[in-house]
Amino acid sequence: MKIFTGIKPTNKLHLGNYFGALMPTIALQEEHEVLMMIADLHAITVPQIPAELKETILLTAATYLACGVDLQRTIMFQQSAVPAHSELAWILGSVAKMGELERMIQYKDKVTIKGESVSVGLFNYPVLMAADILLYQIEAVPVGVDQKQHLELTRALAERFNKDFGPAFLLPKPLISKEAAKIMGLDDPSIKMSKSAPNPKNYLGLLDSADEIATKIKAAVTDSEPTITADPNRAGVYNLLTIFSLASKRSIDSIAHEYQDQGTKKFKDDLTTAVIELLTPIQASITQHLANQTELIELLAEQSERARLIANKTLVKAKEMVGLLIG
Ligand code: TYM
Repeated sequence: MKIFTGIKPTNKLHLGNYFGALMPTIALQEEHEVLMMIADLHAITVPQIPAELKETILLTAATYLACGVDLQRTIMFQQSAVPAHSELAWILGSVAKMGELERMIQYKDKVTIKGESVSVGLFNYPVLMAADILLYQIEAVPVGVDQKQHLELTRALAERFNKDFGPAFLLPKPLISKEAAKIMGLDDPSIKMSKSAPNPKNYLGLLDSADEIATKIKAAVTDSEPTITADPNRAGVYNLLTIFSLASKRSIDSIAHEYQDQGTKKFKDDLTTAVIELLTPIQASITQHLANQTELIELLAEQSERARLIANKTLVKAKEMVGLLIG
C-alpha cells in the first residue's frame, strides 16, 4: 500500500499529532511505501512569523526523524519544495465548487461561526491538501478524525476529475486510529488537543519539559468521582486513560483496572512518568538532529527531489488530460 501524511509546521507538535498521525504512519513504514510531508504551504494560510516558520520547518523534520522516520523506507519532504503541489491545486481548484469549500468545517468555524476574515489561501486549503495526496496515487492517509472531511473532499475531487477528463487519480482512504482519532484538551476535554489552543495547559507538547508535563497533567480537568473507570462518558478521565494507554502501550482496561481505587493523584503521577518516559528519548534525538542544521537542510532538499520526481509524473498526466499543451 502507498501511504501519505502531512503535518503543518505551526508552533510545536503535541501528543495529539503524535498519537493521531505520526505514530500510526511510522508504524506502517516497515511494510508499506510511505511519504511524510511538512505542510509549510498550509502553514502560511494564517498569519505567521517568517523567521519562526523556517525554524519550525526544521524542527518538524527533526521531529519526524526523532519519532522514527526511516529514510531508507520513507520519503520525508517539504511541500513548498515540490512545485507540483501548487500547480495541481490550481487545476483542482477549477474542479472544486465554492459551495463544497464553504461547507468545510474549519472554514465554517472561522468565518460563519466566529465571523473572522480569512485569507483566500485558507479557503483553498482543502484543495491544496487534495493535490498533496492525489499527486502520489495514495491508497491510505493516516490522520486524526478532524481531517476526515478533507479526505472526503479529496475523493470527491478525484472522482469528478476522473469522470470529466479520464482516470488520473487513485481514490485515497483515511486511516483513522480507533484509539487516537481525537485526543482531547487537558484543560477542556470537550475540545480537541490543538497547537493553536490559547491555553498551553490544553496540550502536551513533544518538547515540553518534565516539569511542564507534570504541571499540565496535575491541572488536567477530570471530574468529582474518586475512582478511575474506563467510561467514555467521563471525558476527562477517559482522555487521560487514552494517553496513558498510548504512551505505555497497555490497554485502557488494564490501566483502569489497576488504578481503579488508587485515587486520581497516583493515577496522574504514573501517567506523568509514562509520558516523560515516552518523550525523553524523542527530545534527545530532536536536539541531536537540530544540532546539525546544514545536514538537515541538505537532507530535506534531497528528499524533496525524490518526491518531485514522483509528483511530476501525475502532474504532467493531469495537465495533458485537461488539454494544457506540454511542449
Ligand atoms: P495538522 O498539522 O493540524 O495535524 C497533523 C495531524 O495530527 C492530527 N491531529 C490529531 N489527532 C488526534 N488528536 C488530536 N487532538 C489531533 N490534533 C491533530 C491531524 O488530524 C493530522 O492528521 N491539513 C493537515 C496537514 C496536511 C495533510 C495533507 C494531512 C496537509 N496536507 C495531506 C494528510 C494528507 C493538518 O492541518 O494537520
